[in-house]
Amino acid sequence: MKDMMKVAMAIMATTAMPTQLWAQSANATAKPGKWTDASLPVEERATALVDAMTPAEQASLTQSTVGASLLDLGVALPSFIPESMRIPKPAGSIGTAGYVRAIPRVDFPALHLADASLGVADIGYLRPGQQSTALPSTLSLAATFDPAQARAAGDLIGREAFAKGINVMLAGGVNLAREPRNGRNFEYLGEDPLLGGRLVGEQIAGIQQHHVAATIKHFAVNPQESGRFVYDARLSDAALRESDLLAFEIGIKAGRPASVMCAYNKVNGAYACENPYLLRDVLKGDWNYPGWVMSDWGAVHSLKPSIDAGLDQQSPQDVNYFDGIENAVAAGELKAGQVREMALRIVRSMIAVGALDHRAVPGGTIDREAHSAKAQAMAEAGIVLLKNDGVLPLAKTARRIAVIGRTAAIGVPIGGGSSQVIPWGGVHRDAPDQASLTALLAPSYTRGAPLKALQAAMPGATVTFDDGSDPARAAAAAKAADIAIVYAVKPEVEGVDHADLSLPAGQDALIDAVAGANRRTVVVLETGNPVTMPWLGKVGAVMEAWFAGQRGGEAIAAILTGASAPQGRLPISFPAGTDQLPHKTVTGYDPAKQRPLGIGVTYDPFPIDYVEGSDIGYRWYEKTGAKPLFPFGYGLTYTSFAYTGLSKADGAALTVKARITNTGKREGTEVAQLYVAPPGRTHRLAGWAKVTLKPGETREVTIAADPWLLLSYDDGAKQWVRPAGDYRFFVGKSAGEPVLTGTATLTAATQARSR
Ligand code: BGC
Repeated sequence: MKDMMKVAMAIMATTAMPTQLWAQSANATAKPGKWTDASLPVEERATALVDAMTPAEQASLTQSTVGASLLDLGVALPSFIPESMRIPKPAGSIGTAGYVRAIPRVDFPALHLADASLGVADIGYLRPGQQSTALPSTLSLAATFDPAQARAAGDLIGREAFAKGINVMLAGGVNLAREPRNGRNFEYLGEDPLLGGRLVGEQIAGIQQHHVAATIKHFAVNPQESGRFVYDARLSDAALRESDLLAFEIGIKAGRPASVMCAYNKVNGAYACENPYLLRDVLKGDWNYPGWVMSDWGAVHSLKPSIDAGLDQQSPQDVNYFDGIENAVAAGELKAGQVREMALRIVRSMIAVGALDHRAVPGGTIDREAHSAKAQAMAEAGIVLLKNDGVLPLAKTARRIAVIGRTAAIGVPIGGGSSQVIPWGGVHRDAPDQASLTALLAPSYTRGAPLKALQAAMPGATVTFDDGSDPARAAAAAKAADIAIVYAVKPEVEGVDHADLSLPAGQDALIDAVAGANRRTVVVLETGNPVTMPWLGKVGAVMEAWFAGQRGGEAIAAILTGASAPQGRLPISFPAGTDQLPHKTVTGYDPAKQRPLGIGVTYDPFPIDYVEGSDIGYRWYEKTGAKPLFPFGYGLTYTSFAYTGLSKADGAALTVKARITNTGKREGTEVAQLYVAPPGRTHRLAGWAKVTLKPGETREVTIAADPWLLLSYDDGAKQWVRPAGDYRFFVGKSAGEPVLTGTATLTAATQARSR
């Protein structure tokens, strides 16, 4: 008590708060102030509200606790489970990854922070029994190349969150795919900053239109799971600004997320959550970001350095550095104004998204049918046809179809880890003891068998099933059929990277055997990453269906039968092998340490030198002259397209026009992509147009190069520059398939600050 008095008095001495606030009891209800007036500007309301809070109330906003308890599982918890996950569920929490108590005195709502990369997450213990729409993986969303789909995904997430009483979403993830063996690429939007940035912006805006805050993450350069708590990502300012940071920058400007989550790892020597360059100079400085920075779960290493660098809210972890805030203010190490500013950022964002005026309350209704249908449409739009020797769409005359692959009779994979959703209809976990803790982190599937969906879509055919456990038996089944379809999976779980790019569990050998018995073999890949395909030359068709979500089986069947036409394009290059990658192995990879969520494993700190700089993915292939298996942007359709009539307008900007004609016999969708190479640099995606055309139809598309992609960052001058000169460009079907090429002459420009 004495200590508390001392603290309070010291705070009084250093704070600019009106002194009468100190006289208020924390339990008394404050007179509703300006902040309740929705007609006033956000800034004015936020200031009034934060200034009506006591310093202790302000400080309370700067820390979240776990909003659920593993204790509720009723199973023995292994020793590696951290203390922060053993506490009982806090009163008032509805069971989420993070929880901040309400401040009833000023009617500020509790914050319920839940993951939502692929739908409103529940890893299994947070809100037991609670299901949501399982969206296709975020990588699949990127494959749509369609901002409207990203908006729809966000809209669905926001709507479901609001109906569940959740008001802060820990989505969207936009770490660029520097590492195709990264266990979390399924949660992100691929390797390109423009594609990722534009889509994440739409996803965020979609969430926030439901008065639910969104969180862009993980800021920044968190492209692998191995050693994620300790590695130091090293790359130049220019490389950062042109790649990983650019994706965030575009997404933040477009989507205005309420919050930014700083990453676990270090960037150029400093942990991301206490990195003055990332948080203070770039995010809050150059970009003028008004929202709040929250840490990843367990990413905080200090109090003062973190706050001075720009961290506003500590998320749950065993060591609660931010417990020390009030003492630090009392001791003069932190200024009360800093704490007020942290709280202000949180309050401001919550007001800006409308979370004060529209309170999320559990028990709202969700139209499962409509949402499942949307998830299916997203999955169909994201499926990428990689090879087709005329086997697809499945001929109406195909009478005997052999479906091969164990999981085809179960469901489609859903990603594991914090983002896991329990789909409508429940989850299948590949674990012997479903009630165990390890089951929660085991590879998981929807309960919607692709086999059943195919049978329903082809009522006239005889569809047989073989689980693929014996390649010779599967080959015999394939031989007896007109067509064989192998459903091949590679599950992903947060915390676990892969040693290589191959399909696990003998599936390469299985496909090889099946294709050897029947050339009309279709491989349906359900992966969260690129894979190699040693059997590619032997099979008739390949499609990448990713983790296809709630109605993934139906979506796959629709593309197979041709009820829906493939339109997805690769948002990530498919390498021919790991020898083509800038990092031949995942830096620091240790097979013994691939533990879900990385819980219970320790690594010695190590650096990762990103030698590729901003030349990620397709840009690396161009630089090194390597030919990937399938390039970024690649994807076939059931028709064909011709490009003609290129024209350009250049000077201070670049806009190109081209005429696209559907030269085939079916309606189809083309994604015409514009790539531009500044003098001496590799080509970058600068824009694209997605058009659906009937057979014989021609449409002129106009693609304006995003001005930001014409600029490069000058490390010396610390500014964005567009040198005058000739910029080679092409409009094409992918990064590796230029169709119409040209050169634009651009004038010089500089830009000191961000837009
Ligand atoms: C992940 C974050 C997630 C958080 C809360 C962490 O393990 O890295 O993406 O939002 O957990 O569940």
